[in-house]
Amino acid sequence: MVHYDKSKYADLGAAVTSLQWDAITDLVVMIEVGESNPAFDSVLSHISQIANYSSGNTSLGQGNLPSFPIRSFLPVDLSKFYRYNGSSPAPNCYEVVIWNVFKDPISISQAQLDMFRTVYGVNLNAQGNYKMVDNYRYIQPLNGRTIYYSSAVTISPMRALFIMALAISSAKIL
Ligand SMILES: *[C@@H]1O[C@H](CO)[C@@H](O)[C@H](O)[C@H]1NC(C)=O
Ligand SMILES: *[C@@H]1O[C@H](CO)[C@@H](O)[C@H](O)[C@H]1NC(C)=O
Ligand SMILES: *[C@@H]1O[C@H](CO)[C@@H](O)[C@H](O)[C@H]1NC(C)=O
Repeated sequence: MVHYDKSKYADLGAAVTSLQWDAITDLVVMIEVGESNPAFDSVLSHISQIANYSSGNTSLGQGNLPSFPIRSFLPVDLSKFYRYNGSSPAPNCYEVVIWNVFKDPISISQAQLDMFRTVYGVNLNAQGNYKMVDNYRYIQPLNGRTIYYSSAVTISPMRALFIMALAISSAKIL
């Protein structure tokens, strides 16, 4: 889930090219193959209307995606997450993103995942086609950065204060 401050940036592209380290805040959820997850059905039931670059149809068309609760895509426990300063995962990979990666994954069934893998995107993947698979960026060096972990159990009071301050400053972005 990608966030930027609409009062500062006209659109996502403007946030990216601002080159500010806090231009974008991403909330990231790991997805593990297992139980079927009804949250995905709100998107999957409209998957055929979603952009299909290969067939030259990149519009959502009529019958826009009905609204659905974003919360249903987040893990139950939001208090456990990792935070670090990073970059946009797509070229030019500008360092403009505060990454917040939740510790607990959510689930997706293999059948649901297979449906997502029928979708075509706008970027070439590692296999040289437009299927939205294998389009991840390789792990990057830490480059002197610190990765923070939110758990109150393992952190000192000073560090907890620091993380709270960060949470407040990124809440403004959200
Ligand atoms: C996208 O287009 C390709 C090629 O026409 C087709 O095989 C595929 O099923 C389409 N995907 C969706 C989700 O409609
Ligand atoms: C693109 O797909 C949408 C949804 O399926 C459809 O309504 C629209 O007519 C298509 N447009 C073109 C140019 O094929
Ligand atoms: C990200 O970088 C900014 C600017 O250097 C710094 O103030 C902030 O503490 C960093 N945040 C994290 C999570 O490392």
